[in-house]
Amino acid sequence: MSKSYSIAVIPGDGIGREVVPAAQAVLDLCASRFGFSLEWEEFDWSCERYVKTGSMMPEDGLDRLRPADGIFLGAVGFPGVPDHVSLWGLLIPIRRAFDQYINLRPVKSLKGVPGALSSPFADKIDLCVVRENSEGEYSEIGGRINRGREDEAAIQQSVFTRQGCDRVMRYAFDLAERRSRRVASATKSNGIIHSMPFWDERFDAIANEYPEVETSRYHIDILTAHFVRHPEWFDVVVASNLFGDILSDLGPALVGSIGIAPGANINPERRHPSMFEPVHGSAPDIAGQGVANPIGQVWSGAMMLEHLGEPEAARCVEAAIEELLADPSAPRTRDLGGTAMLRDVTFALKSIISH
Ligand code: NAI
Ligand code: MG
Repeated sequence: MSKSYSIAVIPGDGIGREVVPAAQAVLDLCASRFGFSLEWEEFDWSCERYVKTGSMMPEDGLDRLRPADGIFLGAVGFPGVPDHVSLWGLLIPIRRAFDQYINLRPVKSLKGVPGALSSPFADKIDLCVVRENSEGEYSEIGGRINRGREDEAAIQQSVFTRQGCDRVMRYAFDLAERRSRRVASATKSNGIIHSMPFWDERFDAIANEYPEVETSRYHIDILTAHFVRHPEWFDVVVASNLFGDILSDLGPALVGSIGIAPGANINPERRHPSMFEPVHGSAPDIAGQGVANPIGQVWSGAMMLEHLGEPEAARCVEAAIEELLADPSAPRTRDLGGTAMLRDVTFALKSIISH
């Protein structure tokens, strides 16, 4: 019997419901070429469900996801439902319950996709932002006092643990060993005088375990400037939750449309399922029109295949995306300056994979 992986699929809202089925079709085709199959179990958890039932997912939602080999998510969010509801009602519980402490976003310039930069190296960008996804600045510790008074105050504590720093840094170094052996750390130890010097210390300690990997460190302010001016300097960039959040939106913006950028929330130990989702949201402005670009979702699917241990299949999907984008006569959606529909792009990707 051929190998099969069980995948929980949550299309979500808006264009999530259009790009997810498109990506499933592409991934199924690729899986059959490489001799395995994907068993999809679909969940309708979404803002629409929230409007009908008062919750984004059922009470036993996390337990129903737990046995899956992977979670494939479109996007959640819909006008009328506050964004914190969709975030704290679905995405954050999943990331936390399954200890997806790595948020990984590859950033690569692709032939045929004009980026935002005019630098002579703009077409040589190939980096990965590794964001700490479980602690740091995004903690729930803190509070408000004296509400409504002149002396009102808000306090928000960051949490940096040795275990939390070490594991995200080791992940970054391991990744760099499979790439071009360079890790840059985002810091701010000149201004933030407790947590960031600790982050730097842990970075040095972990770097010592990887003598063959070249390291650098930049304060986050100048790092954002270097991302724009010298993106070709970077290979793997490791950052705390907040700094990583910023860099992982800046990175994809440098190389082109948000419609093609992929992402993953990973539990590296594989004790729990990891979750793969594009960078973009539910795009209510174009939802239901069949014009969304499916590539970000498809590429996130390639990251899922890689994580499942099917690297050749993952390469095949990525190569199909690259071939499609590089071909000026191939269909492209509006976000890339074309007039094609989502189904045309999906069809083109499938025919590249099957020839
Ligand atoms: P968005 O990414 O949904 O849309 C931003 C712009 O990019 C829009 O003009 C949209 O049409 C365009 N766009 C996005 N994806 C595209 C695609 N695949 N093809 C072509 N064009 C595309 O971000 P926005 O508008 O800030 O948020 C909309 C909703 O999505 C909100 O409710 C937000 O909370 C949610 N959201 C959800 C995320 C998630 O589920 N992880 C991530 C980001 C936003
Ligand atoms: Mg963000």
